[in-house]
Amino acid sequence: MKDILTLGIESSCDETSVAVVKNGREILSNVIDSQIKIHEKYGGVVPEIASRNHIEAISRVTKKALEDARINFNDIDAITPTYGPGLVGALLVGLSYAKALSFAINKPLVGVNHIQGHIAANYITYKELEPPFLCLLISGGNTQLIHVKDYTEFEILGKTRDDAIGEAFDKVARVVGLGYPGGPKVDKLAKEGQANIELPKTHIDNLDFSFSGIKTAVINLNHNKPDINKADLCASFQKTVTEMLIENTKMALKQTGLKTLAIGGGVSANSYIRNEFLKLEQENIKVYMPDMKLCTDNAAMIASAGYYNFVQGKRDKLDLNAVPNLKL
Ligand SMILES: Nc1ncnc2c1ncn2[C@@H]1O[C@H](COP(=O)(O)OP(=O)(O)OP(=O)(O)O)[C@@H](O)[C@H]1O
Ligand SMILES: [Mg+2]
Repeated sequence: MKDILTLGIESSCDETSVAVVKNGREILSNVIDSQIKIHEKYGGVVPEIASRNHIEAISRVTKKALEDARINFNDIDAITPTYGPGLVGALLVGLSYAKALSFAINKPLVGVNHIQGHIAANYITYKELEPPFLCLLISGGNTQLIHVKDYTEFEILGKTRDDAIGEAFDKVARVVGLGYPGGPKVDKLAKEGQANIELPKTHIDNLDFSFSGIKTAVINLNHNKPDINKADLCASFQKTVTEMLIENTKMALKQTGLKTLAIGGGVSANSYIRNEFLKLEQENIKVYMPDMKLCTDNAAMIASAGYYNFVQGKRDKLDLNAVPNLKL
């Protein structure tokens, strides 16, 4: 069978990324142009600045992705941009570029949901992984338990009622003075501390999550006890949110009868979370987690998800619009 090459285009937040992926599983190129340095001084992503930088980067990043893959536009079978969820101005840059390209080179346009991309990062890392499985999606904007029934068929079993877990990590980092982006910095500092501070866990009757309570508890503790050990606070926060994630994940595995779990999204790069989830293997659960570089935003995962949309027959027209709150 002929190989299928998808050109993934990702611009939903502060990474401009373009990738070429073969048959949904093999990365031929994955160029990621991060704007972290630009947004660092503002303590978070400034949407207007992100959009402008995507415009500046998108042609250069695409050219490099084709060069790295040693192909030209003619070799591509489908152009697969992220069209949501994300920042509307940022999404529009990658999507408009993809639409113009699709028109100019006469190749199919196939829109991708960014969350579907985070799930697909696992298909690149593990060639043997196939649905059905349970996915715990933990990222900057989302926290969801997803029953992945097929490559393009999903059921959301639980989600956060307030903050996404990545937001909570970033907020904790900011209040203890670690700066942006906070997740990796909390991860690093936590290694020097003890998880000896009791923090509140929120229990909800179903598979939903809530992180605003623990976030507020950390803010208040840090405010009321300015000399509190920051490393202990980070370690305690990390341990408590991980317990919340594991409790709901176990319940979801039990409810669905699934024995395969994949995690995904930027927070799945967290070393403590990765270690704790691997322990589920002792309970007869097969645990998958993407390569570190595929956890945070990148276009290879989008090209992989785009491949599965393409082979299922999904095609979009040039009126495809960015959808900031797109659901799976
Ligand atoms: N080692 C880590 N530990 C904890 N959090 C981390 C780590 N590395 C990255 N993160 C967090 O991951 C988030 C970024 O993930 P990602 O790039 O998937 O988010 P996003 O694309 O902004 O959101 P979404 O995918 O929901 O649209 C940030 O909140 C960041 O702090
Ligand atoms: Mg993301």
